[in-house]
Amino acid sequence: MKRILLGIALLMAVVGAFTATGTAANRGPAEIDIFGGSRGKVPFPHARHQDRLGDCNVCHSVFPQETDAIQTMKASGALTSKQVMNAQCIKCHKAEKRAGKPFGPLTCNTCHVR
Ligand code: HEC
Ligand code: HEC
Ligand code: HEC
Repeated sequence: MKRILLGIALLMAVVGAFTATGTAANRGPAEIDIFGGSRGKVPFPHARHQDRLGDCNVCHSVFPQETDAIQTMKASGALTSKQVMNAQCIKCHKAEKRAGKPFGPLTCNTCHVR
C-alpha cells in the first residue's frame, strides 16, 4: 500500500513539474516591450491580459505566439502599421471603457514611452 501511494505521489510530482514548465514556456514573457516606431516602445503587461481575458486568440488569431511576430508581419506586409494598435489594443480599451469596466490606456503617451 505504502509503495503504491509513494508511486502515485512520485507520478504526480513528475506530471506537475512538466505542466508547470510547459505552461511557463508557452505563455511567453509576463511583460513585453512592443516595437512602437517613432513614438517609442510600448510596455505591454502580457500576463495581466492573459489572466484577465482568458482567451489567447483574442490577440493571437491575428499574429502568432512568437517573438517579434508583429514586426515580422508588418515587414512582410501581412499587417499594416498601427493595425494591432487600432484594431486590438485601442478598440478593446474603448469598448471596456464604454461598458463601464476597468480599461487600458487610450492616449498616445500612456502606451508609448521613449
Ligand atoms: C491582449 C493581447 C494578447 C493576449 C490575450 C495574449 N497575448 Fe501573447 N502576445 C501578445 C503580444 C502583443 C505579443 C508580442 C508580439 C511581438 O513581439 O510582436 C505576444 C507574444 C507572445 C509569445 C511570444 C513571446 C516571445 O517574445 O517569445 C507567446 C509564446 C505568447 N504571446 C503566448 C500567449 C499565450 C499562451 C496566451 C494565452 C494564455 C497569450 N499569449 C495571450 C499579446 C497577447
Ligand atoms: C493602447 C496602447 C496604444 C495607444 C493608446 C497608442 N498606441 Fe501607437 N502603437 C501601439 C502598439 C502596440 C504599436 C505596435 C503595433 C502596431 O503597429 O499596430 C503601436 C505603433 C505605433 C506607431 C508605429 C507604427 C510603425 O509601424 O512604425 C506609431 C507611429 C504610433 N503607434 C503612434 C501612436 C499615436 C500618435 C498615438 C496616439 C494618437 C498612439 N500611437 C496611441 C500601442 C498604442
Ligand atoms: C480584448 C481586450 C484588450 C485588448 C485586445 C488589449 N487590452 Fe490592454 N487592457 C485591457 C483591460 C480590460 C485592461 C485593464 C486591466 C486591469 O485593470 O487589470 C487593460 C490594461 C492595459 C494596460 C494598463 C495596465 C496597467 O498597469 O494599468 C496597458 C499598458 C495595456 N492594456 C496595453 C495594451 C496593448 C499595448 C494592447 C495591444 C497589444 C492591449 N492592451 C490589448 C483589455 C485589452
